[in-house]
Amino acid sequence: MKLVFAYVLTGLCGVFAKGRAQKGKFSVPSLDVKTRQLVLQANQTLQLNCRGRWELSWALPEGLARDQGSVQVKGSRCGRTGQQYCSCLTVGSALAQHTGLFRCRYQHRPRKQASVYVYVTDSRRPFVEVLGKSPDVLYMKERQPLVIPCRVTHPNVTTLLVKFPDHKLSPDQRNIVWNSRQGFTIRSPTFFYVGLFFCQATVDDVSYSSHIYIVHRPVNNIMKVFLNSSGPVRKLKGERLALNCTATGALNTRVNISWNYPRKENRAGSISKRIMNSGSHMLFYSILTIPKLQRSDRGLYTCQVTSGEKIKEAKVNVTVYDRPFIRLKPRHGSVLEAYAGQKSFRLSPKLQAYPEPEVVWLKDGTVAAKHCSRYLVQKNSLVIRDVAEEDAGRYTVLVALKEHRLDRNLTLTVVVNVSPQIGEKAVSLQDPGTVPRGSRKALHCTSDGVPPPHIQWLWHPCPSKGLPAAPQA
Ligand SMILES: *[C@@H]1O[C@H](CO)[C@@H](O)[C@H](O)[C@H]1NC(C)=O
Ligand SMILES: *[C@@H]1O[C@H](CO)[C@@H](O)[C@H](O)[C@H]1NC(C)=O
Ligand SMILES: *[C@@H]1O[C@H](CO)[C@@H](O)[C@H](O)[C@H]1NC(C)=O
Ligand SMILES: *[C@@H]1O[C@H](CO)[C@@H](O)[C@H](O)[C@H]1NC(C)=O
Ligand SMILES: *[C@@H]1O[C@H](CO)[C@@H](O)[C@H](O)[C@H]1NC(C)=O
Ligand SMILES: *[C@@H]1O[C@H](CO)[C@@H](O)[C@H](O)[C@H]1NC(C)=O
Ligand SMILES: *[C@@H]1O[C@H](CO)[C@@H](O)[C@H](O)[C@H]1NC(C)=O
Repeated sequence: MKLVFAYVLTGLCGVFAKGRAQKGKFSVPSLDVKTRQLVLQANQTLQLNCRGRWELSWALPEGLARDQGSVQVKGSRCGRTGQQYCSCLTVGSALAQHTGLFRCRYQHRPRKQASVYVYVTDSRRPFVEVLGKSPDVLYMKERQPLVIPCRVTHPNVTTLLVKFPDHKLSPDQRNIVWNSRQGFTIRSPTFFYVGLFFCQATVDDVSYSSHIYIVHRPVNNIMKVFLNSSGPVRKLKGERLALNCTATGALNTRVNISWNYPRKENRAGSISKRIMNSGSHMLFYSILTIPKLQRSDRGLYTCQVTSGEKIKEAKVNVTVYDRPFIRLKPRHGSVLEAYAGQKSFRLSPKLQAYPEPEVVWLKDGTVAAKHCSRYLVQKNSLVIRDVAEEDAGRYTVLVALKEHRLDRNLTLTVVVNVSPQIGEKAVSLQDPGTVPRGSRKALHCTSDGVPPPHIQWLWHPCPSKGLPAAPQA
């Protein structure tokens, strides 16, 4: 309904029936028709008189508001001392599409109003809405009634709701409710009500169809939300930050993407959006860009995706450094101990740097990976596989940010412990043989290891004949 302000036209207008509207203090305007509805024939003249304490205006049915040439409104001062306002609305030749609610209201307080519903009956036009070329789209919402707005021009027209092409539904006043002023209301619509619908009325054995409506059910189905940086984002002051938030949803889904970030209040970022249909689903992109990062841009960046009542979000921490840096120090002292035979041994100093530095490992002055195939560089660590005695030595890690002319180095010493070996055990166990009593016999034990082993001799008395051996220290 559109609002039409009162304007003065000369001409004759019906006089307010005396005595009827005089009572009360006009807290709301008063209409001369006291019934809630009027039924006119097409081409008849509609005239409504309204009276009140303040200036009046009219709100007209949409079909008439679109067609204002046929409306005349005459305003005047009235009442015994002329302190009241009167307004007379005339529609010279009413048409079916003028059917609807006519409201007379106070200009400054439009909620104070009097209304009458006017049917303009045309036997050849039972439906108010003009048949349009393209169907109207109606959106079905979760847990909300669905209205098929096929209003009619006479209160007693009987109608059917038709699902295209020919599934007919009669009002049952439980789930399918008919109202001549509204059309059909489906109280709890199911997926059955998705599709093409129209209404059908039979007048004098002639069947009429209403405008066609497409009932569409928008889905609120966000499948995934992700940012194009899995880990925390690190940047230098003055650099540009761009975060790409991607949401995927079922076809038909519509989403809103919003960002929360430290300098949102200052509108530090600009946002650009894109929607793509991948065939099986929808892709929504929102890219937040901060052209020149400041220190105060550090913090949590959240991309929030909403669709109806559904919410999903993705977050990332952003760190802003003042300048490039390298921090390098040993993790557990600068001398490390490994064991010969160990499956793997890792040298991993504490390294923090920005931007990503170049890392080179040296063993005794030559590039470690070239030195031995058992040396592997993994991220910033050096891994020694199948540790051997010869792996002992000095390892140096060189860390450089060449474009910023920054470098650091750290040398770690690796000691490889070798468990003691008894040389004689490598040869098959020798039988010392019998030694005549009183003679000298030298027993040899050759041993090596890292660190050099201590040698200690232990004596086991021989077991007496026929008795099991009893070990003794
Ligand atoms: C209304 O008047 C027009 C023209 O005067 C005429 O063509 C039309 O048939 C009339 N409608 C009705 C319902 O009488
Ligand atoms: C509509 O039908 C009811 C009952 O059948 C009847 O009383 C009423 O007068 C009719 N209304 C109009 C405007 O014809
Ligand atoms: C980032 O956004 C663009 C759209 O501008 C898109 O084509 C691209 O795939 C997105 N990248 C990632 C990793 O999300
Ligand atoms: C994320 O996407 C934006 C926009 O496409 C791009 O400028 C930025 O470099 C991307 N960031 C990462 C970490 O891939
Ligand atoms: C997006 O936000 C607007 C305004 O807040 C709201 O009217 C609209 O329904 C929202 N859309 C979805 C799909 O949630
Ligand atoms: C961001 O950093 C804060 C504090 O360092 C931490 O508590 C939080 O878990 C981080 N969030 C993400 C998404 O990494
Ligand atoms: C290691 O750093 C020192 C200064 O801290 C420098 O004198 C030395 O040349 C560096 N060594 C290498 C191999 O770059």
